[in-house]
Amino acid sequence: MTKKELLAVARKHGTPVVVIDHEVIRRNYANFRRHLPRVQAYYAVKANPAPEIVRTLYKAGASFDVASLPEFLLVHKNIERLPAKERQDFIWDKIIYANPIKPKETLQALDQYKPLLTYDNLEELRKIQRYAPHAGLVLRLRVPNTGSMVELSSKFGCDSGVAVDLIVEAFRAGLVVEGLSFHVGSQCTNFDNFVQALNIAAAVRQEALTRGHEIKILDIGGGFPVPYDDRVKPLRPLARKINAEIDRLFSKDMEILAEPGRYLVATAATAIARIIGKAFRDGKTCYYIDDSVYHTYSGIVFDHCQYRLHAFRSGENELSTVFGQTCDGMDIITQSEELPNLEIDDLVYSERIGAYSNASSTWFNGFAPAQVVHVNE
Ligand SMILES: Cc1ncc(COP(=O)(O)O)c(C=O)c1O
Repeated sequence: MTKKELLAVARKHGTPVVVIDHEVIRRNYANFRRHLPRVQAYYAVKANPAPEIVRTLYKAGASFDVASLPEFLLVHKNIERLPAKERQDFIWDKIIYANPIKPKETLQALDQYKPLLTYDNLEELRKIQRYAPHAGLVLRLRVPNTGSMVELSSKFGCDSGVAVDLIVEAFRAGLVVEGLSFHVGSQCTNFDNFVQALNIAAAVRQEALTRGHEIKILDIGGGFPVPYDDRVKPLRPLARKINAEIDRLFSKDMEILAEPGRYLVATAATAIARIIGKAFRDGKTCYYIDDSVYHTYSGIVFDHCQYRLHAFRSGENELSTVFGQTCDGMDIITQSEELPNLEIDDLVYSERIGAYSNASSTWFNGFAPAQVVHVNE
């Protein structure tokens, strides 16, 4: 969006405000499909659970990765109008529940939908057997997350050495393991993680086959990197590597899916905030804005992501600090942003802030989350 359009939104709706451009979401989805034609995209709803985004991606043809019961129900609303006989295939085609750990109450609630669920350990398998016996299973593998911005392998995924035993055990328990999955870590710029993960999955699949169990689905997870800055390589060379490895390691009838989160939504959103305070500290101009790391900028803490701040006004830049609105000392947006001399009530903005941002906004200190405005829906 142009600066003029952003200013118009801020004037109309006030600040803090997050503007989400659905044209960009559709473009990102189309890019993903173009570069990875064998891979069906299951949008990881946690990246930004706005129902408007779910609807846009659903219309574009996407499926969904959910990781909680509320996320499941949010997506399911979109498919309940289907004829009952189509629903079973359809639910697996459209939704995977990709949180390997689920409370038993969630399993009980999900069972009626005969969902596709991930698991990565024996305790979870026993819970699924007891509380969601109609589920189809996907075994999550532990794979290298080297260099990814958000590391996930210390929390989820079974070692490949025990994978086939977990598959055999599931079949023994009367369940069916339909697929294998992995996650290379979020914002993965080390493409070798994907290559190694695909090779690990192929080896597990082969060993399972020798034990009499054919795995038909491969879920290559998320991690597709967003161009937050010029150093991030584009999707195309990564996709080429992934496509080549998939073709080499898996037969044509293997169903391949992925769970892109940030890739589909990060570049679609811009946050606009207002300067509410100004001070001079430690030799630097410090601005206070009406947003914070407890709100739209939560990705600084939880997503290890740093966002640039830009001014609408032009002028000679100087190194500045920008604080959030709360009373917490750790509420620092940046200590090294180049900004012109700004006044109270001037506006600033951050681009590419659509993933893991307002999704984890809180009401800390009595401040409401930023308004969200959807354009080009
Ligand atoms: C199971 C799972 N799938 C998909 C995603 C989305 O990852 P990304 O936003 O890196 O594409 C995540 C993120 O944490 C995840 O945990």
